Amino acid sequence: MAAVFVSSHPLVQHKLTVLRDVATDHRSFRELMRELAMLLCYEATLDVKLEPYSVQTPMGTAKGMKAVETIGLVPVLRAGLGMLEGVMQLLPNVQVWHIGLYRDEHTLRPVEYYNKLPTEPTVQMCLILDPMLATGGSAVATVDILKRWGVPRIKYLGLIAAPEGVERLTTAHPDVPVHIAAIDDHLNEVGFIVPGLGDAGDRQFGT
Ligand code: PRP
Repeated sequence: MAAVFVSSHPLVQHKLTVLRDVATDHRSFRELMRELAMLLCYEATLDVKLEPYSVQTPMGTAKGMKAVETIGLVPVLRAGLGMLEGVMQLLPNVQVWHIGLYRDEHTLRPVEYYNKLPTEPTVQMCLILDPMLATGGSAVATVDILKRWGVPRIKYLGLIAAPEGVERLTTAHPDVPVHIAAIDDHLNEVGFIVPGLGDAGDRQFGT
């Protein structure tokens, strides 16, 4: 069973509640997504590898640490884009590899439409960024793509999950930790998370 981390940080819970609110406009929605992604990224990167590294201060030599891994950020288009900027701001060495998936509205299966990964992996770890883990189909497909690419460590960062999506992702990929702000009640008959926040892509981009 994969590790599932549901953030208990008070700021995460506060900001997530405002994000859910139907009265929150597009601009505020994007800002909240950026901030929530930063807070979750902080919690998800506690095990980033460090090497000793010294610097000169105005007063002498300070023994410090340097983050040595190159981390691949994988926003799942479209909604994952809203989590990208905040995470990019926090991490020192990143590459961004977009993956385009949309959910077929009848079958709810993910359909891949954008993937420009090179043949060999160029990162030591990937963070998948996608706010909604609904049926889990998109998350499983994204991990499948990254494993085929050969990435040794993969983590999933999301905002709201349905229990069904968590179950599907952790069963298919028990080695992938899941960092999430909330696990909601259920999926409805058309695959939306309830109570959720609606369509994260539409709410960010005003569509
Ligand atoms: C949403 C969301 C996830 C996916 C989750 O994307 O951003 O990628 O659905 O659903 P699943 O767990 O059932 O696969 P959507 O297909 O609406 O595309 P969009 O981000 O372009 O709006």
